[in-house]
Amino acid sequence: MSSYNILLLGSGGRENAIAWKLRQSKLCKELYIAPGNAGSMQYGTNLNIAVTDFESIKKACLEYRIDILIPGPEDPLVAGIYDFFKGDDELKHIIVAGPSKEGAQLEGSKAFSKKFMQRHNIPTAAYQEFTDANFEEGIQYLKEHTLPIVLKADGLAAGKGVVIAQTYEEAIETFHSMIREAQFGDASKKVVVEQFLDGIELSVFAFTDGINYVRLPEAKDYKRIGEGDKGPNTGGMGAVSPVPFAQGEFMQKVTDRIITPTVKGLAEEKIIYHGFIFFGLIKVNEEPYVIEYNCRMGDPETEVVMPRLENDLVELILKMDEGKLNEVTIQHDLRAACTVMLVSEGYPNAYPKGKIMNGLDQSKNSMLFHAGTAVKEGQVVTNGGRVLAITSYGNNIEEALQASYENANKINYDGKYYRRDIGYEFR
Ligand code: AMP
Ligand code: GLY
Repeated sequence: MSSYNILLLGSGGRENAIAWKLRQSKLCKELYIAPGNAGSMQYGTNLNIAVTDFESIKKACLEYRIDILIPGPEDPLVAGIYDFFKGDDELKHIIVAGPSKEGAQLEGSKAFSKKFMQRHNIPTAAYQEFTDANFEEGIQYLKEHTLPIVLKADGLAAGKGVVIAQTYEEAIETFHSMIREAQFGDASKKVVVEQFLDGIELSVFAFTDGINYVRLPEAKDYKRIGEGDKGPNTGGMGAVSPVPFAQGEFMQKVTDRIITPTVKGLAEEKIIYHGFIFFGLIKVNEEPYVIEYNCRMGDPETEVVMPRLENDLVELILKMDEGKLNEVTIQHDLRAACTVMLVSEGYPNAYPKGKIMNGLDQSKNSMLFHAGTAVKEGQVVTNGGRVLAITSYGNNIEEALQASYENANKINYDGKYYRRDIGYEFR
């Protein structure tokens, strides 16, 4: 049996969970993580390369004889890393577990994904798009819209480009600052205005070879900073899997109306898409709608999805490359997995870095997936807003959370904060 050298791009909890999973595979020879963090070093070798520095990534691929590239975050995918590899004679043999630049537009442009869903009759909120050219029309549209109004910057805005305006004044002000004051730079030159959907969200993941797909365990993440889902959005404060309501008829609708038409639609439109598709869904009454697509795995969802996925991830990637995902059956660990994210005081606004972390070696019965950490003078220090994802298994969500919370207590650094109500609907 041959084995493969793998380069994983990214530096968060998601990449630590993927690295943890890859390390368990006999098919994984050497694992490199670029740039990685203090946690990823236990699974492989960190390379000090930025995820969008394609030329340095190329050099590393040649030097380390990389066979498989896994882009963790969206930035390199939206910037076209797949096309860069496939257009380069020295790199094109490398398997890239991610979509083409065009495919990554499902995440890279809200307007693109909205039009795609319309073409394929995939349920999503009604919307209109506006730019400076039809600005006045947009103002009129807002005035006639029912409240609340959802405004989305078209391009990538690190999860911050969505505003849910509760009043017309706020909607008009947001619209103005997005388009006329470039609140999110070029990303908000175009704005999608959409209908507000009231329901409960969940994250569903497919892994596709462009024709066939398999569905990975689903998850629910907790995006707001405050308990009771209050306060500003973050990159994610915790996650649970499975999602108790994601079953039966509802998941059949998700499959028939959303996942299958998405994969089929991409194939019909000849958009090259291999790898993960993240469906950010909302259940309104008993009906699923797409809130957003992402062209990668979720963070912190990956920190509970990878622990529940029993299949060998490298084998899945090889099947993807051969176009044979139809031969794969996904096996789920039947236990629940939950993750609690420790963050830095002040996050999602400004926060300090470099705080010494204690108690990492005291944790029991949890997996520690480092998010924003670094090693400084031999010590692990905080190095980001989201610091550490503490994932545990349990016979149910309550039990898994209990284990994570025990360890969240033991691990300390100045300004530690975490939500104590992850999974509250299901406890
Ligand atoms: P997005 O970046 O598109 O995932 O949006 C960020 C968050 O805003 C989502 O996770 C939802 O909580 C919320 N959101 C986005 N679009 C809508 C919508 N049409 N209705 C209600 N909530 C929304
Ligand atoms: N947890 C949401 C995301 O990864 O976009």
